[in-house]
Amino acid sequence: MERRTVIIDCDPGIDDSLALMLALASPELDVAGITTVSGNVPSDQGGKNALKILEFMGRMDIPVYQGAKVPLKREYISAQDTHGEDGLGEAGIKEAEGGKVLPDGVEFILDTLRREKQVWIIAIGPLTNIALALEKDRDAFKTLEMFISMGGSDKSHGNCSPVAEYNYWCDPDGAAFVYENLGRPIHMVGLDVTRKIVLTPNILEYMKVLDKETGKRVGAFVEAITRYYFDFHWAQERVIGCVINDPLAVAYSLKPGLCGGFAAYTAVETEGISKGQSVVDRMNIWGKTPNSYILDQVDEAGFFALFLSRLYGCEEEKIRPVLRQIMVSES
Ligand code: BDR
Ligand code: CA
Repeated sequence: MERRTVIIDCDPGIDDSLALMLALASPELDVAGITTVSGNVPSDQGGKNALKILEFMGRMDIPVYQGAKVPLKREYISAQDTHGEDGLGEAGIKEAEGGKVLPDGVEFILDTLRREKQVWIIAIGPLTNIALALEKDRDAFKTLEMFISMGGSDKSHGNCSPVAEYNYWCDPDGAAFVYENLGRPIHMVGLDVTRKIVLTPNILEYMKVLDKETGKRVGAFVEAITRYYFDFHWAQERVIGCVINDPLAVAYSLKPGLCGGFAAYTAVETEGISKGQSVVDRMNIWGKTPNSYILDQVDEAGFFALFLSRLYGCEEEKIRPVLRQIMVSES
């Protein structure tokens, strides 16, 4: 099996934690390190949370680096209203034992790019760290083979303003800089597709059945950290369940066929009422060379089959019939 060297740049965060769990349970991904950025929670708290997930997954061998503390040019606004004060839904998950959050996340990203022949970056928080690394040493990015960013939206409405998604809204200058300067297509896993990934009470119940069958306590852990997120989604959007954005970025890296999309030039607005909006030139009106691949279709059942089969270490075929039943009854 071909293994890819991957850096996960994140702000854990409830859905970031689920994304980390999926990545750590996937043998195709050789996670070189996890870098944290200030987003859902400040980057030091994000580092502590990443360690908690590593401990839960039995992967304390993977290093965690703290990255930027604040966005490139503006005041930092966290999403603790969505993810809880601790970023993990205030579920009382204990600090990991023995792990340490290392400094210099931006340097780690550059060192990895310089050392390895081909690197994948999955960025599931604001793009501050990536922008800082790019600003410092653009040449290092020659070895970047794939860049996936959870962020933005094209046709779907925003979640921080009518048009802006949180990661790009939190650091619009960072996002704009990366879109302008990365020099390779950004695979944008935006709200158009992630909004369709809803962890419902029924799926969670099924996970607890799988816990019993396998002796694992994945469902119990996921239930504990998502309870806060469920309440938030009900209060804000009248959604029963929670939208789990970030794991779709990891799933796409494992199985690109789960999503469909199109190439386009994209820019990110940095000022005014549309601050943080990803402006996707779908019709190529600007006549510019595409710098992004915008996902606009997703196979939701395929995502959950992959997600659960990896978390429980079983075949997708085992999961699919029950999922089908759940999803048909929910549709
Ligand atoms: C994104 O913002 C954060 O709240 C989530 O972790 C996700 O990365 C969704 O807008
Ligand atoms: Ca995130």
